[in-house]
Order: sequence, then C-alpha cells, then structure tokens
Amino acid sequence: MASSGIETILERIHAAERPDRADLSRILRIADPVEMASLTGYADAVRRRFVGNGVLLRGIIEFSNVCRNTCQYCGLNRRNTRLARYRLSRDQILTAVQNICGAGIKTIVLQSGEEDNLDADWLREVIAGIRSFLDAAVTLCVGERSREEYRIWKEAGADRYLLKIETSDPGLYRGLHPGMSFENRTRCLEDLAALGYQVGSGNLVGLKGQTVASLAGDLEFFKRGGFDMISVSPFIPHSQTPLAGEPAGDLEMTVKMIALTRILCPTAHIPASTAIGSLHGRDERPRALAAGANVIMPNFTPGDVRRLYDIYPGKAGCDLTPQRGVAAVERMATAMGRWVDYARGDALRLTRTAPGQDSPREASSDAGLAKALYN
Ligand code: 5AD
Repeated sequence: MASSGIETILERIHAAERPDRADLSRILRIADPVEMASLTGYADAVRRRFVGNGVLLRGIIEFSNVCRNTCQYCGLNRRNTRLARYRLSRDQILTAVQNICGAGIKTIVLQSGEEDNLDADWLREVIAGIRSFLDAAVTLCVGERSREEYRIWKEAGADRYLLKIETSDPGLYRGLHPGMSFENRTRCLEDLAALGYQVGSGNLVGLKGQTVASLAGDLEFFKRGGFDMISVSPFIPHSQTPLAGEPAGDLEMTVKMIALTRILCPTAHIPASTAIGSLHGRDERPRALAAGANVIMPNFTPGDVRRLYDIYPGKAGCDLTPQRGVAAVERMATAMGRWVDYARGDALRLTRTAPGQDSPREASSDAGLAKALYN
C-alpha cells in the first residue's frame, strides 16, 4: 500500500509545473526500501520514456587546477598551498581531444578551476582549434566569467556550459563561497542561456547545514531553470578544506535527488557523476544509472597531471587509461541492459522528439529563464 501512495505523489510531482514542497520533502524522507524501489523504478521508467536506453559519453579534460576561489568543500581552493598547480598547453589539450575523438566520443568537456587570469583569447583559440578539425560538441566548465567572455567562446564554437549552483539556499551558498555571490552565479546562468548555450547546472548533496528543505529548494531551482543538463553529486570531504572533518554526502539521499531530478526534468541529461563513483571507494554509478541518470564522463586528462585535479579524494578511474575507463562504462551499461550511445547527445529540445515523447519541448527564451530563476 505504501508504494502505491508513493506513486500517487510521484505522478503529482511529474505533472506539476511547480512541484509541491511537501511532496518533495515526503519523498526525500523515504527510509523504507520498498518505497525507495518505487521511487527509483518510477524515475527509471521516466528516463526510458524520455531519453531512452542509451548512456551518453562526455570526454572530460581537466586543463587547469588553478583557482581564485575558496569554496569551503573543494580541494582546489586557493588556500590549499600543498597542491601543485598546473595548466595544460593548447597542444596538450589538443592531444587529449584526439584521444577522445579516437575513442569515438563526440562531446569534449573542458573543465578547470576558476582562474583569475584565464586568457579569454587563449581559450577562444583552443575552442576554435578543436572545431577546426572535429565535429564534436564542446562543453565549457570554467566558472563565473563575464557575459563578454561567454559570448567570445560561444562565437568560437562552444556549444554547452556547465555551472552548478551547488546549493540554491542563499544562506548556505554564502557560507560555503566566501567572496562570491548567489546573484552573480544566477547572472552567469542567465547570460549563458541568453547567448544560446545548452546550459547545465546541479548541486552537491550532503553539504554541512543542508536540510531536506534546501534540497527540495534545489529541485525547484532545477525545474524553474529548465536546464538541459543537471548534475547531482555527493559531497566528499577533502583534508585540505574547512570541511575536512565532515561526513560525506549520503548515497541514498543522492540517489533520491537524482530520481526526483529525472521525474521533474524528464528530458534533461543527467550524469552518473564521477563523485558518485568515488564515494567510500565503491563505484556506485550503476545506482545512479538505475535511478534516472543517462550520461557518464570518462576522464581524458593526461595521466601525469590527473591526480592534481584534486577536487575530492579517491576520484574514481584516476588510475585508468581513458580506453579502460570507456571499456568499464561499456561493461557497466551492458550489464544493466543499456547501451553506450556515441552520439553528440545535444539537448533534446534542439534535436529530436525523444522516444515516447509527443512533441519537442519549447526552447525556453532567455527572458523566461531569467524570470524563472528569480521567481
Ligand atoms: N565533493 C564533491 N564534489 C565536489 N566539487 C567540488 N568539491 C567537491 C567535493 N568536495 C564539485 C562541484 C563543482 C565540480 C566541478 O566539482 O560541484 O561544480
């Protein structure tokens, strides 16, 4: 009986334009394994219907670990003086791009810390260099920048941008990000959407001070933002941060958040993140894939600097060559009755009618996103 009650709530959440806070909180408080199975089963069915059985691959290159920020959870924070800093050259990046291309992957993710003096023209040339020999999607994940920089990179050929909100709770946000502001974060997301990027956001689960209410708020933020990609991943404590002694994010809560994200945002691309593959030294990415996720991001950062991209400890796949990382994903997907999709995997609103979907979602206008984020 309990599970049919759960399904009624899930139906309501799935259908709602503005989900009810009490419904979200009720689901986030699930403790019973039967109810948990109903939740993940429902999310899995939504995933199958809206994005199908393919697992999309994104090849990630972490090209610099230099960062100006002091985010309280992140090992790259500038106060971590024990960490040797690096930045790859254009040629090193292009070599890694060729490896991604050689593996048949058609999305390149360029990620870095938030460098103070990142040269916008340098990055523009890297993007243009990639686009000159490769018809692959380029995704940037280089933090908060000016609208002008976002425009330059879009014009050079960047397609997508990832900028997690980390938490949508303004008080929590302030405490975790000294010197940064929630307003600038949302300004960036609005600029990116207005410039025509496919936009990704997301959060961390298990941050100190985070409550069920703030997680429900994150889900509402995802729904309002109409994001094309949403990454939900567990916090993992890093010794060289102020949160060193805090417990890691809870796996079950992370899985619940992924499932609810899928139910609320049926066409979004949702990764089984590397962090969920790293929690407590076990690879729990299959749990994410079974609860709504449809993307995996194999690491193509060159081996000699890879361990320096030290966001959190014990990063999964750090010791694997890219080829072995991709082979592991192939095995994981196949074992679950899924398959690895080597397509570009653009936002569904730009491509096709998803399996089982009646009509493509309307592209959200920039004004719409701006309004939505502040409502
Ligand atoms: N645990 C898990 N994820 C983290 N990130 C940063 N620090 C941690 C941590 N300690 C994530 C942030 C950021 C992404 C690049 O890495 O969500 O957006």
